[in-house]
Amino acid sequence: MSGKWLTARVIENRHWTDNLFSLRVEGARPTFQAGQFVRIALDIDGERVARAFSFVNAPDDPVLEFYGVIVPQGPLSPRLAKLQANDALYVAPNPAGFLVLSEVPDAETLWLVSTGTGLAPFLSILRTEALWRRFRNVVVIHAVRYANELTYRDLIQKTPARYVTFVSRESAPGSLSGRIPAAIADGRLEAAAGLPLRAETSHVMLCGNPQMLKDAAAALANRGMRKHRRRAPGHITVESFW
Ligand SMILES: Cc1cc2nc3c(=O)[nH]c(=O)nc-3n(C[C@H](O)[C@H](O)[C@H](O)COP(=O)(O)OP(=O)(O)OC[C@H]3O[C@@H](n4cnc5c(N)ncnc54)[C@H](O)[C@@H]3O)c2cc1C
Ligand SMILES: NC(=O)c1ccc[n+]([C@@H]2O[C@H](COP(=O)([O-])OP(=O)(O)OC[C@H]3O[C@@H](n4cnc5c(N)ncnc54)[C@H](OP(=O)(O)O)[C@@H]3O)[C@@H](O)[C@H]2O)c1
Repeated sequence: MSGKWLTARVIENRHWTDNLFSLRVEGARPTFQAGQFVRIALDIDGERVARAFSFVNAPDDPVLEFYGVIVPQGPLSPRLAKLQANDALYVAPNPAGFLVLSEVPDAETLWLVSTGTGLAPFLSILRTEALWRRFRNVVVIHAVRYANELTYRDLIQKTPARYVTFVSRESAPGSLSGRIPAAIADGRLEAAAGLPLRAETSHVMLCGNPQMLKDAAAALANRGMRKHRRRAPGHITVESFW
C-alpha cells in the first residue's frame, strides 16, 4: 500500500493563530474536484499516520494547500503544524468526497456553511468558475469561537460572494453571535445575508462540526429542506469532519 503514496514537500506553513495553520506543499498532483479531500500522512514512530484533509487550492493549482487546526491530543495535527519548508509529507493518490458542485442541483442561491476548518473545501469551490456560472448568489458562512479564527477573509472578500461570520465566544463587531442553527431558525442568518433561505430557491452545503451539521439540518428541515440524494433530489449536502 505505502508504495502508492505520493511524496510532497512543504513550501510554507503559515500560522494564523496558535492553533490554526495552512500548509502549502508541492510535488504531488492528485486529480480532484473542488470540495473533495485526500488523506495526508506522516511517519510517526515507524508508522504512517494518515488523516483526511480537504483541498483549499483550486484543482488546477500545482501547489496543494491544506487548512488545519491543532487538536492537542491528536496524533497527526500537532505534527503537521510543526512542519517546515522542505519537510516531506505523504499524499494519498485517491481524493474522494461528495461535497462537490457536480453533486449539487441547480438553485438560485448556494449557501456554503462552515464551522472552523470546515471552511477549507469551500475555499477551493470559491476558486472555480463553475460556481459563478451556475449560481446567481453565493453566501459563505463561517462560524468560529474567536474573531482571530476568521481566516481567509481577504480571499473571500475578493469574490462576489456574500460573507456572513459568527463569533461565538467573544463579542466581535461585524459578526453574528451564537450559533448557525439558531440563526437559521430565528431568521438572523437570512437578514445578515440579505437573501431568503427557502427550499424553492436555495441549496445548502454544510461542513465542519458534526453536531452543527445535525442541528443545522434540523433547522433547515423546519423550512421544508431535506438532504439531497441522487435519486431523491433535495436541498442539503453535508460533510462531517469527525
Ligand atoms: C472528510 C474529512 C475532511 C477533513 N478535512 C479537514 C481539513 O481540511 N482540516 C482539518 O483541520 N481537519 C480536517 N478533517 C479532520 C482531520 O482528518 C483530522 O481528524 C484532524 O486533523 C485531527 O487529526 P488528529 O490525528 O490530530 O486527531 P484525530 O484523532 O483525528 O481527532 C481527534 C478529535 O479532534 C476533533 N477534531 C478533529 N478534526 C477537527 C477539526 N478539523 N476541527 C475541530 N476539531 C476536530 C474531534 O473531536 C476528533 O474526535 C477532515 C476529516 C474528514 C473526515
Ligand atoms: N478554537 C480554539 O480556540 C482551540 C484551542 C485549542 C484547541 N482547539 C482544538 O480544536 C477543536 C475545536 O476546534 P474549533 O474551535 O475550530 O471547532 P468547533 O469546536 O467546532 O467550533 C467552531 C464553531 O462551531 C460552533 N459549534 C460547535 N458546536 C456547534 C453546534 N452543535 N451547532 C452549531 N455550531 C456549533 C462553535 O460554537 P461554540 O463556541 O458555541 O461551541 C464555534 O463557533 C477542539 O476540539 C480542540 O481540540 C481549539
